Amino acid sequence: MGRVVTLVSAALTASALLANVVSASCENGTIPMQLRLAYAGSTGMVVSWNTYSHLPHPAVHYGRDPKHLNRIASSNVSVTYPTSTTYNNHVSIADLEPDTLYYYQPYCSNSSVPYTFKTSRPAGDKTPYSIAVAIDMGLMGPQGLTTRVGAGAANPLGPHDNNTLQSLQAQGAGTDFLWHPGDIAYADYWLKEEIQGFLPNTTIKDGAKVYESLLNQYYDELSVISARKPYMVGPGNHEANCDNGGTTDKAHNITYDVSICMPGQTNFTGFRNHFRMPSAQSGGLENFWYSFDHGMVHYVTLDTETDLGHGFISPDEPGGPEGEDSGPFAVRNAQLNWLKKDLASVDRKKTPWVIVAGHRPWYVSASNESSTICEDCREVFEPLFLEYNVDLVLSGHTHFYERNAPIANFNIDPKELNDPSAPWYITNGAAGHYDGLDSLVRPLQNYDRYATDSVYGWSKLTFHNCSHLTHEFVASANGTILDTATLFKDRKC
Ligand SMILES: *[C@@H]1O[C@H](CO)[C@@H](O)[C@H](O)[C@H]1NC(C)=O
Ligand SMILES: *[C@@H]1O[C@H](CO)[C@@H](O)[C@H](O)[C@H]1NC(C)=O
Ligand SMILES: *[C@@H]1O[C@H](CO)[C@@H](O)[C@H](O)[C@H]1NC(C)=O
Ligand SMILES: *[C@@H]1O[C@H](CO)[C@@H](O)[C@H](O)[C@H]1NC(C)=O
Ligand SMILES: *[C@@H]1O[C@H](CO)[C@@H](O)[C@H](O)[C@H]1NC(C)=O
Ligand SMILES: *[C@@H]1O[C@H](CO)[C@@H](O)[C@H](O)[C@H]1NC(C)=O
Ligand SMILES: *[C@@H]1O[C@H](CO)[C@@H](O)[C@H](O)[C@H]1NC(C)=O
Ligand SMILES: *[C@@H]1O[C@H](CO)[C@@H](O)[C@H](O)[C@H]1NC(C)=O
Ligand SMILES: *[C@@H]1O[C@H](CO)[C@@H](O)[C@H](O)[C@H]1NC(C)=O
Ligand SMILES: *[C@@H]1O[C@H](CO)[C@@H](O)[C@H](O)[C@H]1NC(C)=O
Ligand SMILES: [Fe+2]
Repeated sequence: MGRVVTLVSAALTASALLANVVSASCENGTIPMQLRLAYAGSTGMVVSWNTYSHLPHPAVHYGRDPKHLNRIASSNVSVTYPTSTTYNNHVSIADLEPDTLYYYQPYCSNSSVPYTFKTSRPAGDKTPYSIAVAIDMGLMGPQGLTTRVGAGAANPLGPHDNNTLQSLQAQGAGTDFLWHPGDIAYADYWLKEEIQGFLPNTTIKDGAKVYESLLNQYYDELSVISARKPYMVGPGNHEANCDNGGTTDKAHNITYDVSICMPGQTNFTGFRNHFRMPSAQSGGLENFWYSFDHGMVHYVTLDTETDLGHGFISPDEPGGPEGEDSGPFAVRNAQLNWLKKDLASVDRKKTPWVIVAGHRPWYVSASNESSTICEDCREVFEPLFLEYNVDLVLSGHTHFYERNAPIANFNIDPKELNDPSAPWYITNGAAGHYDGLDSLVRPLQNYDRYATDSVYGWSKLTFHNCSHLTHEFVASANGTILDTATLFKDRKC
């Protein structure tokens, strides 16, 4: 304990004198990388970052005045896993003012100016705002989604196209946070990318290094956003595996499966180490399922990959359709019991909107395979969504954009977007990654209202007030809004 106090007071002195957080002990191994934020209740924020070295006491300097980062929060959480080349540091800052701008610097930051974050709007605040949602988003740039692809791959960017990360910075500048429910980075595509001649070939054993390199690059590039606004994530199937769920090298007639995966690259290991979502505040489980309030909205992130409950073999669990070997993470029905309790406890006077995101879709114009359409997810989650009047359900997994009508048990709500009682469903897995887009299965489902499978893009949600919510599909290439729809709920504010 004495050591902590010494370190903190030494750092305080340094910050008071130099107005920065660099000390003599800072070197390559302690300089922050992959900076990212997450809400931790309306008066808290988690600051996370990676370093090459283990930090015994990760610390963050922060304050309301950029010239006086007069407060310090620290922790002892600096975690890693086999094959990782970095440590994941997590510091939770508590007792902040809600809806307030703070300046901060992690210890040994090499940035000459402090970073900023804004705390959550308190539940009940009815000020309009927007958020960004991107699903199935991989590495952008030379080793990811770019203007070229390997042999047999498709949908490269056009020469003047912005990628989704660039569009999120440009058109998403005014959004409060970025929600990314699953399929993050696509580092597990390394093997397919090598087989397609896109990345230099390695041995399977050295593939672990390629995997971690792609993962590190993704989180580094994302920090242009995640260091400035909360990055709220959920699990997708690509967090569960290292081999793209099975990859075939036709030239050599070899099909690889999870048996090639190095320890640490299966079972959501990187995902569990990398983030600290607000499950402690919401009674959820790690980064798998949790909820949070922000202004007039209650947000719920669900796990469609494991722990479905009701005795189902979840998609990524041993024996599930993805061929993974992951989960479960809790006792049977833990997620469902939590979801019921969470939805039952929402105060709709404070947070009239209830929005749910889970990685996998079930109402979608895709081929009816259990690895694509999660009928089991529908069977476990839909009854609760109906019972508790969820307004909007977001998913991805299929790499296209499809906006549906509100729907309950396959029945289209006759009121459509004009005060429906059924939840509205939107699938948008079009954020983009190396392997391009998926094709819609035509004819489209009768509940489809707009769909495109040739454009990379993300979703912008705008909460105008308690009765009006607008969803926009933003084409990343040029920032054009290709689809706009507004949901009306007949509620008194
Ligand atoms: C920093 O350390 C990492 C890991 O040890 C190493 O790969 C990298 O080259 C180093 N960078 C510099 C600038 O020394
Ligand atoms: C970290 O701190 C917590 C709470 O202060 C304590 O319970 C835990 O044992 C510590 N862990 C390590 C590895 O020091
Ligand atoms: C800070 O360090 C990171 C990681 O080594 C490096 O990528 C970045 O360019 C550095 N930034 C500055 C401003 O020196
Ligand atoms: C493309 O992205 C860059 C970087 O975010 C931005 O400056 C530029 O305005 C964007 N272009 C369009 C057409 O949106
Ligand atoms: C890597 O191996 C694959 C097949 O295993 C082959 O198609 C590809 O051309 C190789 N790439 C290079 C750069 O040798
Ligand atoms: C490919 O391998 C499988 C089993 O590993 C074998 O049954 C099959 O005959 C092989 N095909 C060719 C074209 O060599
Ligand atoms: C995945 O990790 C969880 C938590 O450590 C563990 O309970 C579970 O058995 C693991 N699943 C597999 C298939 O190894
Ligand atoms: C999809 O397949 C499942 C199981 O095979 C079946 O129960 C379900 O009715 C099918 N759904 C559609 C829309 O065809
Ligand atoms: C809510 O916002 C919508 C869209 O901006 C607007 O048309 C409507 O009048 C607002 N309703 C109230 C009660 O303010
Ligand atoms: C913007 O890009 C989208 C998607 O590629 C395309 O459909 C649209 O025509 C473009 N709009 C303009 C104004 O270039
Ligand atoms: Fe997926």
